[in-house]
Amino acid sequence: MRRIRVLIVDDIGDTRDSIRRLLQFEDDIEVLGEAGSGSEAILIAEEKHPDIILMDINMPEMDGIRTTELIAQRAPSSSVIIMSVQGEQAYLRRAMMAGAREYIVKPFTGDELASVISKVYEMDQRKRASLGEKFTDSVDSEARDGQIISFFSTKGGVGKTMLATNLAVQLASSGKWRVLIVDLNLQFGDVAVFLNLVPKRTIADLTQSGPIKYSEIQSYLLTHSSSLQVLAAPTRPEYAELVTAEQVGQILNEVKDKFDFIICDNISRFEDISLVSFDVATQIWLVVAMDIPTLKNAKLSLEVIDGLHHTSKVHVVLNRASKEMGMDPRDVEKSLGFKISHEIPSDGRALVAALNRGVPFVTSSPQSKASEAIRKMAAELTSLDMKGSIQAPPKEQGHGNKGPLKGLRRVFGF
Ligand SMILES: Nc1ncnc2c1ncn2[C@@H]1O[C@H](COP(=O)(O)OP(=O)(O)OP(=O)(O)O)[C@@H](O)[C@H]1O
Ligand SMILES: [Mg+2]
Repeated sequence: MRRIRVLIVDDIGDTRDSIRRLLQFEDDIEVLGEAGSGSEAILIAEEKHPDIILMDINMPEMDGIRTTELIAQRAPSSSVIIMSVQGEQAYLRRAMMAGAREYIVKPFTGDELASVISKVYEMDQRKRASLGEKFTDSVDSEARDGQIISFFSTKGGVGKTMLATNLAVQLASSGKWRVLIVDLNLQFGDVAVFLNLVPKRTIADLTQSGPIKYSEIQSYLLTHSSSLQVLAAPTRPEYAELVTAEQVGQILNEVKDKFDFIICDNISRFEDISLVSFDVATQIWLVVAMDIPTLKNAKLSLEVIDGLHHTSKVHVVLNRASKEMGMDPRDVEKSLGFKISHEIPSDGRALVAALNRGVPFVTSSPQSKASEAIRKMAAELTSLDMKGSIQAPPKEQGHGNKGPLKGLRRVFGF
């Protein structure tokens, strides 16, 4: 007889133990694991496909309702039963909307719990039989043709991480795409900080663990509440040495067909690791700002990238676009000889407040102009016409000879 495989999710160890004890004499039920947090539950669900997940509602980090929502997307063959206390009725409706199949009110006896588990399992079996479905997780097993977007700049602080994390969250939160962000700023990567995640396991732990295979990589990913998966940078600068460019190439090749979008956040220098990410990338997003030193170096980078035969992948992203800079985006295009693909306005107040709360600004200030720009980027990326193409430089136009423009003309000679 096939036993019903159950996962217990509760942040309190004693509660998990007592639930396990309640089920220990049920011959047709097997507890296959326990999770102390929502993100751990998602990882186990994706890996082991339990039949039933017993879910607590109140958990720090990610609550049981959000976890249920993500499990419904990522491991749809598992059915969630919510364990609630009296008085949480308002949450129960939300939990059912999120995809939970049933609930049981605490405290409950072993018989009550076993009977709810059996009831949900039998209902699932009947439903599957009538649909003639095989017992598979289509979302997980489907091969994907991942777009790899590598964020780069020649100067630190132009907003790569800000844009990369917000774009990744925007894509992931639609629930339609599997999205991974890889922090390749190995010494001082701060993707996890931007997302308020604690990097218990990082890319450095992964490279020390043996052969790099997707089955292994999965257990090193963190899950953000938007369902974005995160491969965090090492927790200390000296651990950066533990990761080689070859390993980064292997990781990106392993995850390529498992995600729809893989966003890489690089350091602001050409070095082996950024070059590997350019090789594997389908698009390179060069982030620039409206100041002459940044533009001068961006122009040089475009030449280097051209020497590497990657020009067709390049998209120029102008961050902190503002009229107050005394420069027009068209001047930037002229200086670089490259069309700007995306412009993100400067929005210090919304962005810094969001950063300090560890919340992506697309979530905390959806009405801001910067969020609007990120949504536009995501919409363009997810539309059919998303192939990288060589961008023709804009047509020459007459120029004045004042302020920053004069400087631009001096440096770029137009
Ligand atoms: N559009 C914007 N409007 C206002 N402030 C911004 C904008 N984009 C980025 N910033 C600010 O710039 C700071 C630097 O951004 P970020 O850390 O993303 O840069 P970076 O390019 O990743 O830098 P590094 O190369 O050091 O990793 C952030 O603290 C953020 O507050
Ligand atoms: Mg950064």
